[in-house]
Amino acid sequence: MSTVAEYYKKLADEMQSLRDAGTYKELRYLQTPMDAYTEMEGYGRTMIMSSNNYLGLSNLPEVKEAGKAGIDKYGAGTASVRFICGTFDIHRELEQEIASFLKTEACLTYVSCWSANESAIPVACGAEGVVISDELNHASIIDGCRLIAKGVQKARYKHSDMADLEAQLKQFPNAPVRLIVTDGVFSMEGDVAKLPEIVALAKKYEALVMVDESHATGVIGKTGRGTAEYYGLEGQIDIISGTLGKALGGAAGGFVAGRKCFVEALIQKSRPQLFSNALPPTVACSALAALRVLEREPERAQRLRDKASYLRNKLKEAGFKPLDGDGAIVPIIVGDDAFAISISNKLLKKGLFVTGFGFPVVPRGTARIRCQVSDALELKDLDWAVEQFKEVGKEVGLI
Ligand SMILES: Cc1ncc(COP(=O)(O)O)c(C=O)c1O
Repeated sequence: MSTVAEYYKKLADEMQSLRDAGTYKELRYLQTPMDAYTEMEGYGRTMIMSSNNYLGLSNLPEVKEAGKAGIDKYGAGTASVRFICGTFDIHRELEQEIASFLKTEACLTYVSCWSANESAIPVACGAEGVVISDELNHASIIDGCRLIAKGVQKARYKHSDMADLEAQLKQFPNAPVRLIVTDGVFSMEGDVAKLPEIVALAKKYEALVMVDESHATGVIGKTGRGTAEYYGLEGQIDIISGTLGKALGGAAGGFVAGRKCFVEALIQKSRPQLFSNALPPTVACSALAALRVLEREPERAQRLRDKASYLRNKLKEAGFKPLDGDGAIVPIIVGDDAFAISISNKLLKKGLFVTGFGFPVVPRGTARIRCQVSDALELKDLDWAVEQFKEVGKEVGLI
């Protein structure tokens, strides 16, 4: 029988081997709010180009004031699950606003989009359905697929490969429900899902479509309403999940929007709703304020996209090969995990925070530096960032 002491020794050895391999993920501590620049412990004033603070709203006075007013009005929380002990009217107000923003019938919030995905997928599939998921979907979708009932079948299609999706759909003609699930903007690639083709296949094979809009809301679509707006498919997506922890204020929180009866089913059946507390009311208030900023000033989304394409072009001019995309994610594939992390560390020493991602976040051999543009950044900031990239890129032989 192995001892507890042996267990901890093995775990500590494993962590040390990550450090030795240069793939250990260090936590960086910020001492001032998330914004274009922040004070980072040990590094001083640092420019942020790896946050999902796409619209730069996390430190907007209007958003912060709403959060403060929320805690004064509602206190810290209900200290319970919504159905057991009540829910705040601000949750309903936020949910109605998200539903109308996305042109869906209804919406339900969760403490995170992670919870939202883990809720929506099992509920949608019921006892005997089938879920068909893009192979590059976010980990929360992958885990949501793991939580399906025993009788539900799972299939994966090659990334954005519509022939493969159709082949998968053909395999399950008798399932009571077929659910196709995809990221709207893929979190590590930055590309946009082929929603028109997916919707057409869904119609042909009587399937539901679920889209995770975490990196699309506030970013793509003329007024920042995401992938459905980008393709002119508003009102045609069955289930939309999203986060309040990125463009919409950046605190935390997630949601599922869709048909009224589906949202009712989530209230009745989804386990994170039945067994876990609601979104803190202060976050509901700040997220609602952020959403209203976007509704009032939709030009923020276009400005963000212009900045992202500016960065993409400047990096290309400098000799890098960022992946193409219409969102605000600009990844540069460098191959090896430790190499990606070492580039990120070198940039950080120069005052630029851009994270390097390796396995298991991305497939082996495709480690990358993922730049994320925020509307908080100005063009001169992006120019400066490209200069830092050039210096480091030459030093490590990337350009
Ligand atoms: C596509 C996608 N879905 C879901 C999530 C999880 O969002 P949250 O932080 O709200 O749990 C993320 C976060 O990185 C994401 O990128």
